[in-house]
Amino acid sequence: MELKTPYYVIHKEELDANFLKLQHAIQKHWNNYIIGYSYKTNALPWIISHFSNLGCFAEVVSEDEYNLARLVTKNNKNIIYNGPIKTKKSFTEAIKNGCIVNIDSQREVEWLNEVKEKNRAIGIRVNFDIEKACPGQSQCPEEGGRFGFCYENGELEKVIQLLRNNNVRIAGLHLHTSSKSRGLDIYRAICEIACELQEKYDLDLDYVDIGGGFFGGLSTKPQFEDYLALVEKILVKRFSKETTKLIIEPGMAVIGSPISYVTTVIDVKETNYNRFVVTDGSRTSIDPLMTKSSYFYYFQAKDNGSVHPIQIISGYTCMEHDRLFIAKDETRLTSGDKVIYDKVGAYTMCLTPLFIKYFPDVYVEDNGHLQLVRKAWQPKDYIMNSIVEE
Ligand SMILES: Cc1ncc(COP(=O)(O)O)c(C=O)c1O
Repeated sequence: MELKTPYYVIHKEELDANFLKLQHAIQKHWNNYIIGYSYKTNALPWIISHFSNLGCFAEVVSEDEYNLARLVTKNNKNIIYNGPIKTKKSFTEAIKNGCIVNIDSQREVEWLNEVKEKNRAIGIRVNFDIEKACPGQSQCPEEGGRFGFCYENGELEKVIQLLRNNNVRIAGLHLHTSSKSRGLDIYRAICEIACELQEKYDLDLDYVDIGGGFFGGLSTKPQFEDYLALVEKILVKRFSKETTKLIIEPGMAVIGSPISYVTTVIDVKETNYNRFVVTDGSRTSIDPLMTKSSYFYYFQAKDNGSVHPIQIISGYTCMEHDRLFIAKDETRLTSGDKVIYDKVGAYTMCLTPLFIKYFPDVYVEDNGHLQLVRKAWQPKDYIMNSIVEE
C-alpha cells in the first residue's frame, strides 16, 4: 500500500541498536549511571514512552514537559528536571516526589524554603567558561553561556554557601554544555571542572550530570565509547563509581539518526532561471531553524537513467525560501518520485510550525512492518481548545 506523504518514519531497529551501543559504553566505563532522554529534542509520545521502556529517565525543562513525563511514563520519580522556566509548583512537587532537580537560577533557591528540610537536596547547574577551555567550539563565544550559576565570577560559590546555610544538600552538579563541535574536548573540560569544583568546595555528590550534546549514529564522528572512556579517565580522579552516579542527557545522539522524512514530487516547474522540483514536504519540517546547509537524502525515481544539471528541490509552503537543496547532475525527477531525507529526528518534529499544513503522519518501522504512531493533524485537531465566534 502506498502511504500518504509527507510522513516521518522512525527506524526502530536502528534506534535500539544505537541506544544499546550507548548503554554498553556507559556500563563499561561507569556502571552506576542514569540516562535521561532529552524531551526537548523530540517529545513525540511514542518516542518518550519508548525511551522510558528502555530504562531512561525523562529529562524535562518546563512544567509542561514535567507533566507530560508524568502522563506518559510509568515511573513518576524517574525525571530529571532542569532549566530556567520551572514553576514553583512543579519544582517543589518534583523535589517532594524524589525527582532529580537541578537548579538554574536564584528564584529556585528561594523556593527551597518551602520544601521540608529533610527533602532539601538539589543539583546546581554550573555556568563556566567553555570558550576559554575549548576555543572556537562554544555556541556563544563572545557573549558566553546564559544557564546556571557562574563559576568564574563567584556566583556559584555564593549559592553553594547560601544552600549550605539553609541546610540544603548539594546532591549533584549539572554541567550540560551545548557546543558547536560536539567534540571530545567539551567533555574533557566538563569533567575537569567537575573535579575542580569537587575539590575546591569539598562536595560529596550523589551524581555528576554531564548533560547531552554528543554525536550518535554517525560513523565519521566520535563514538559513545570515545566519550565515555574519556569521561571515566577524568572523573575517577575525584569521584568513586560506587558512590557517585554519572548522568547523561542525550537527545540528538539517540534520536537524530533513526528518523527519516518521506516526500513526493508533486510538480516540476521550468522557469527561465531554473527547474523547480516541488515536493509535498517542507523545509520547515526538517530544518525549522533554517540553518542547515546540507541533508542526507536520496531519491526513489521512476527514471534513474536520465540526469539533469540543476534542479532546485522545493517545499510546499508559499515562502520563497522553502527550498531544500540544489541537485546537481542528479536523476531527473518527475511527479510521483520520492525524495527521502535521513537523520532528521532531532530538533525537527518538535519545532515544526503549524504553517499552512498541520503535523504529518509518523510511522514506526520495525523489521519492515509499519505502525502509525501519530495520525496527521486535521483542522479539527488544530481548533481543539479554541473558541470560534458564532
Ligand atoms: C539541559 C540539556 N540537556 C540535554 C540536552 C540535549 O542535547 P542534545 O540534543 O544536543 O544531545 C539539551 C539541549 O539543549 C539541554 O539543554
